[in-house]
Amino acid sequence: MWLRSCCVWGTGLICILLLIAGIAMVVSQVFLKLLNNRIKEQVVLENGTEAFSVWQNPPPPVYMQFYFFNLTNPEEVLNGDKPSVIEIGPYTYREYRPKEDVKFMDNGTRVQAVNPKTYVFEPDMSRGSEDDLVRTVNIPAVTVMEKFKDSIFSRPISDLMKSLSVGVFKTFRVGDLLWGYEDPLLKKLKVFDPLLDIYFGLFYKKNGTDDGDYVFFTGKKNYQDFARIDEWNGQSSLNWWSSDECNMINGTDGASFHPIITKTEKLYIFSSDLCRSIYALYESDVSVQGVPGFRFVPPSEVFANLTINPDNAGFCVPAGNCLGSGLLNASVCKEGAPIIMSSPHFYQADDKFVQDVFGMNPKKEEHETVIDINPLTGLLLRGAKRVQVNVYLHQIPAFSETGKIRTLVFPVMYLNESVVIDEESAKKLQVVVTEANVIVNIPFIVISVGILLGVIFIVLVCRQQVPESTVDERQPLISS
Ligand SMILES: *[C@@H]1O[C@H](CO)[C@@H](O)[C@H](O)[C@H]1NC(C)=O
Ligand SMILES: *[C@@H]1O[C@H](CO)[C@@H](O)[C@H](O)[C@H]1NC(C)=O
Ligand SMILES: *[C@@H]1O[C@H](CO)[C@@H](O)[C@H](O)[C@H]1NC(C)=O
Ligand SMILES: *[C@@H]1O[C@H](CO)[C@@H](O)[C@H](O)[C@H]1NC(C)=O
Ligand SMILES: *[C@@H]1O[C@H](CO)[C@@H](O)[C@H](O)[C@H]1NC(C)=O
Ligand SMILES: *[C@@H]1O[C@H](CO)[C@@H](O)[C@H](O)[C@H]1NC(C)=O
Ligand SMILES: *[C@@H]1O[C@H](CO)[C@@H](O)[C@H](O)[C@H]1NC(C)=O
Ligand SMILES: *[C@@H]1O[C@H](CO)[C@@H](O)[C@H](O)[C@H]1NC(C)=O
Repeated sequence: MWLRSCCVWGTGLICILLLIAGIAMVVSQVFLKLLNNRIKEQVVLENGTEAFSVWQNPPPPVYMQFYFFNLTNPEEVLNGDKPSVIEIGPYTYREYRPKEDVKFMDNGTRVQAVNPKTYVFEPDMSRGSEDDLVRTVNIPAVTVMEKFKDSIFSRPISDLMKSLSVGVFKTFRVGDLLWGYEDPLLKKLKVFDPLLDIYFGLFYKKNGTDDGDYVFFTGKKNYQDFARIDEWNGQSSLNWWSSDECNMINGTDGASFHPIITKTEKLYIFSSDLCRSIYALYESDVSVQGVPGFRFVPPSEVFANLTINPDNAGFCVPAGNCLGSGLLNASVCKEGAPIIMSSPHFYQADDKFVQDVFGMNPKKEEHETVIDINPLTGLLLRGAKRVQVNVYLHQIPAFSETGKIRTLVFPVMYLNESVVIDEESAKKLQVVVTEANVIVNIPFIVISVGILLGVIFIVLVCRQQVPESTVDERQPLISS
């Protein structure tokens, strides 16, 4: 009898202790702190650590894919018709971006490096070759026309263009348009401007070159600063966490964002392609190679016109000169070339720009920029940066080459620079995530066991109390 009642009250006591312990663990967040500490130990750049080798040579392959818009009706466009284009590509390049000339500084709290990028053509992932032909805007010619449209030199330059049969449109070899070719018009104009570079290419001089010295924090002082950029070419970089030619994210490319990302986080992406920084917000839960992640995408307000987002006034250049939703004048970043950046196929831009060109077909899944991050570790699971290069075309009276062309934003090319976590890293990450889930849930398991014991306790007590009188009657029987 005593044994039984002892069991019952013992159960009650353990139940209360478990509940107290569980609640205390939840309140003090002891396991969360433990987990944070483990992550902190791992996110530091030190010679010989895994984080360092991953940072120095990010294992997941990065691909740069180019798509061009091949113009089918140049004569009609010069007569005032709508352009009609056919998308060609992708022309895919594997992008290698190791950190080189690595030097630790300040007792290992900061590290200096350069980050050259090399592009190697991947025929198996491409449709077509670098020798394909594409007919599009002759960007050097249009730039020259824009520069001299109000100058006394417009006449001789126009004559020069006629003698070279240079017009608004030109057929290029894909490889030349990307990586550079000697431009006949620029070559002739060099006589007047000895500093002029006679080569032109959308990615001219980008292969194998680095964009200057970076100084990163190693995370030794503060793990949240892990791999964050402190300086770029001697300039302090405030909130830039990572670099990628024209493109800085305050998280890193393949290495790491700071751990424990929440759904309310605003991720800043600085892009000198876009001459501005944009941000991305949480959109949905995703799973990449079995690893859970949060998807962040730039919300449409980022690209909206002034009526919808007055904050975008600063991006109308020159001041007051707004192009409409989804477009950005990148002329100042591109040495005066009339370049306008947008999302591919004018996704999230004013419908007017889509309607102005036959062949545009914006699709969310294909044309938006996405960043998928594992929230616990802050690791990048998948990323795709998608940007389109357009040229602003209009009639220029001084240059009869422009004919009766409509005023329009002409799409030339778009790119998709993407990365997906490699299988091996994904497997490692999965182990970490599973472990973390167990650790974080320990307090709740303890509480659950407490509640279960509580239920058992109540049942036992009730069963003991109902037959109380019979127990009393039996007592003498037992003692006798
Ligand atoms: C890292 O250590 C190796 C071997 O000890 C050494 O050769 C290398 O220079 C070190 N790297 C840096 C960046 O200090
Ligand atoms: C590096 O560490 C040494 C010894 O701990 C200290 O005297 C020195 O001030 C530190 N230097 C920097 C730049 O932190
Ligand atoms: C870039 O440079 C690398 C190495 O120098 C070379 O193998 C590759 O073919 C180049 N890529 C292009 C697109 O020229
Ligand atoms: C692009 O158009 C030009 C002119 O019509 C044509 O010669 C070329 O083959 C086209 N390019 C591709 C890749 O289809
Ligand atoms: C990025 O920078 C913004 C602005 O300073 C900050 O609010 C945000 O928390 C940062 N995000 C990450 C992932 O570091
Ligand atoms: C801004 O965009 C909205 C929706 O696309 C449109 O209704 C409005 O007319 C635009 N405002 C201007 C000034 O273009
Ligand atoms: C783009 O900006 C440049 C320089 O700021 C300016 O000269 C040009 O007119 C702008 N283009 C358009 C289409 O607004
Ligand atoms: C890049 O984006 C394009 C569409 O924008 C898509 O067709 C292509 O599959 C993407 N590439 C990768 C490697 O995800």
